[in-house]
Amino acid sequence: MTTALITGASAGIGAAFAQQLAAHQTDLVLVARSQDKLQELANSLRHQHQIQVDIIVQDLTAPNATETIFQTVQQLGRSIDLLVNNAGVGDYGDFTESNRDLQLKMVQLNIATIVDLSHRFLPGMRQRRTGGIINMSSVAAFQSMPYFSIYAATKAFTLSFSEALWAENRSYGVHVLAVCPGPAGIKFFKEAGFPSSLINVAEKIDTPVKTVVQDALEAFEKREPIVIPGSLINPILATLPRFVPREWVSSFWKLILGHDFDK
Ligand SMILES: NC(=O)c1ccc[n+]([C@@H]2O[C@H](COP(=O)([O-])OP(=O)(O)OC[C@H]3O[C@@H](n4cnc5c(N)ncnc54)[C@H](OP(=O)(O)O)[C@@H]3O)[C@@H](O)[C@H]2O)c1
Repeated sequence: MTTALITGASAGIGAAFAQQLAAHQTDLVLVARSQDKLQELANSLRHQHQIQVDIIVQDLTAPNATETIFQTVQQLGRSIDLLVNNAGVGDYGDFTESNRDLQLKMVQLNIATIVDLSHRFLPGMRQRRTGGIINMSSVAAFQSMPYFSIYAATKAFTLSFSEALWAENRSYGVHVLAVCPGPAGIKFFKEAGFPSSLINVAEKIDTPVKTVVQDALEAFEKREPIVIPGSLINPILATLPRFVPREWVSSFWKLILGHDFDK
């Protein structure tokens, strides 16, 4: 029996990872801030699949959060075969007018947390010569996004970091995958503060979270370094920026995302 640790498992893509891994008889350690949601999910997965599910209620931006998680996993006597670095947030708006603390917390959650957890759990995987990491990036990773600037930059970091780790760890039998979905679930966009006009556009090209996770787990099995789940629009969004001048890409996204702001 293998064990997966999933961050941001209380909702959306993280909860879908929990459901699909549980269906494959993977034991789970679920991490998020919402105790009630984690507890409910854990109870239902234990009941449905007769697997071991532990929860760790933790704000990943709190001081020493990753140390707490690592220690708790050790106290539970678990060794982690699959780390799913899924928890992530976005914040829509003009960078200059944005809340600085919020931006820094986003960098902490979307970047520092995945670096830290990967650094803690990789040595065990290497030693056992099995297992791996799934990092949630985004199609945003392939382009700068005015008015979603920090988020897109964090996802570019995640993609680059994951690809490098993929190469560094393959010969140890450890696999690292970057998952780069387009829009997949409206909760994320609402919480990121997008206006309804843009949420409506995102909804039109939305990929069900179930499909995102299916595609991710399939790519992980095939030991691919990167997967862009969902319909053709997402590979197009990821690939086109390579063939046009970079300033065109930034100007394009300013037009799409910034129509509520001063031009
Ligand atoms: N949805 C999309 O369209 C989309 C597209 C591309 C990439 N992604 C990426 O996919 C990942 C998951 O997105 P999603 O749509 O599933 O998001 P979501 O539905 O908003 O869920 C976010 C998850 O992260 C947890 N979380 C947020 N802040 C946290 C913190 N400080 N500490 C611990 N847990 C925290 C939330 O749980 P609690 O609130 O209980 O803590 C929740 O479980 C993210 O990395 C996102 O960037 C999403």
